[in-house]
Amino acid sequence: MSGLTATLLNISAQAASAAPSAGAAPAEQPYTIAEEGAWLPKGSSTFAEAYDSAWSQYIWISIVFFLIVIVPMVYFAFKYKRKSETEKTSPVDHNLTIEIVWTLVPTLVLFYMFWIGFKSYADIQVAPNEAMEIRLTGQMYNWTFEYPNGVVTTDLYVPKDRPVKLVMSSKDVIHSFWVPEFRVKQDVVPGLYTTMWFQATRETTTTVECAEYCGDGHSKMLTRVYVFEEKKFDEYYANDFDDPSNPVPPAVRGKRKYEALCASCHSLDGSRIQGPTFQGVWGRKEVLADGSEVTVDANYVKSSIVNPQGQLVQGYPPTMPSFSYLKEKDIDGIIAFLKEQK
Ligand code: CUA
Repeated sequence: MSGLTATLLNISAQAASAAPSAGAAPAEQPYTIAEEGAWLPKGSSTFAEAYDSAWSQYIWISIVFFLIVIVPMVYFAFKYKRKSETEKTSPVDHNLTIEIVWTLVPTLVLFYMFWIGFKSYADIQVAPNEAMEIRLTGQMYNWTFEYPNGVVTTDLYVPKDRPVKLVMSSKDVIHSFWVPEFRVKQDVVPGLYTTMWFQATRETTTTVECAEYCGDGHSKMLTRVYVFEEKKFDEYYANDFDDPSNPVPPAVRGKRKYEALCASCHSLDGSRIQGPTFQGVWGRKEVLADGSEVTVDANYVKSSIVNPQGQLVQGYPPTMPSFSYLKEKDIDGIIAFLKEQK
């Protein structure tokens, strides 16, 4: 997009922030649409150039035609205003040349706009055969990714300069997987597989958003995409996407899992969202749906993660999905994190 367009259309400037380096400890960076705030964030996939060019052309074509129509309209309104009660309307009825021109030119322009849009759309629809296939599951209100080697993550890790294909489905309602920097967006639908693909062009950390209203936690259905150089990606991939040179303490690991999976339903400040708050949760006595009492300890936390409906706290709806895919060390991390919530 040209700088002039960016300036001209600076309607919803997003707070610009420096791109965090993807190398530093993952998941500590805030969720932001990084860089180039004005209109679209800086593109970082192979689709970005064609997409941004089409976008920019649409905007300029709209501006030009707006002026062509509106400026003469205002001018004629004054010029041909009836001056007196007795003034007669001009007998001119039509002009074939003008009518052909103002029909043909916009039609050709529309064909052109369709063509540049359709070309990009066709590219985005068809993934190359060699693309790495990642399974994505959307559910209220988080995303999970399963890689060909069986690793499951809550952030998305992808290699730079290699095509990645997402095969997506939803466990509950319609979500929409959107990575603004990659210029790709696709609905994630229950009972159906949808796919999309992209190829990242630079090392970056960027944001995934849910672009389809899916319930209370919709606006928090965010996660990150880490784009790594191929060599670094392979190292992380072999190590379950933990930084091989920088193992994280359990409570930090737990905090990341909390932010990715639990935060949309469990607050840390005592406020009630969908589920009980985690403020002071450790050691708390909870009354369960069947009237019995339980103390929140490691066993209760683990059973609530794996089988949430088993020991439901009284007064809360049975809406929590099972997170049985979490690894032992992730659950230990969550337990360590919960112990810190005074
Ligand atoms: Cu998921 Cu909105």
